[in-house]
Amino acid sequence: MSLLELKQIEFSYEKDETAVLSDFSLAIEAGQCVLVLGENGAGKSTLFRILNGLSFAQSGTYHFDGILIDERYLKNNRNAKQFHKRIGYLFQNPDVMLFNATVYDEIAFGPRQMGLSDEEVDRRVLDSLSLMEIESLRQKAPYHLSGGQKKKVALAAVLSLNPDVLILDEPFAGLDKKSEQWLLQLLKDLKAAGKTLVIATHADEKFQEIADTSIIMGEKGTRESI
Ligand SMILES: Nc1ncnc2c1ncn2[C@@H]1O[C@H](COP(=O)(O)OP(=O)(O)OP(=O)(O)O)[C@@H](O)[C@H]1O
Ligand SMILES: [Mg+2]
Repeated sequence: MSLLELKQIEFSYEKDETAVLSDFSLAIEAGQCVLVLGENGAGKSTLFRILNGLSFAQSGTYHFDGILIDERYLKNNRNAKQFHKRIGYLFQNPDVMLFNATVYDEIAFGPRQMGLSDEEVDRRVLDSLSLMEIESLRQKAPYHLSGGQKKKVALAAVLSLNPDVLILDEPFAGLDKKSEQWLLQLLKDLKAAGKTLVIATHADEKFQEIADTSIIMGEKGTRESI
């Protein structure tokens, strides 16, 4: 079985509404870098919500590393922790993710939730701050930051959990050229370290060096090609 496997997913946000994903299947192998492409409204972010266990399909199955991920499975706290430790999600809009008083606490939040020791939490936060080159923002309030800075803090918060799988929704949006360059290098390093990357983007040409395959989401979220 593949690391992430969706089979014949049907998903709509409201009952009786047109499905966003219909008969949608997808398999992603460990260590792959997959680009998710498609027009505005094609269902990329919806797909990511399902992969991260934030939305659940009305029918079809989602297996992560052989485990059926559904509402019932994730209701169990221990299962949810285990799952969220392995799969990290950068939201398209980082504002949705940031709610702590300081950048430090924001990045420490995940590792603290995982029950890591204060020492280990501190080490992870400092590593992530330095990886993203945002040490100077450490004591700032996330809501006062610029758009690009918020994106970096959100990404640092994802990286601090050291997940096996990174699901990144428009990671370059709002970043300047220099930040794009080092983020691309960081993604290359993560891939070389064996991480699985799933990236939604409208700038696929920028990811050609690291992408193994791409999926184009169709008009109603059906897969058109791989
Ligand atoms: N919370 C929601 N409630 C109801 N409908 C939603 C919700 N989120 C998204 N939709 C609808 O689902 C469809 C797919 O949206 P989605 O955000 O997944 O597209 P996307 O491919 O990520 O687009 P973009 O390129 O603009 O980010 C759209 O028609 C959108 O209006
Ligand atoms: Mg989107």
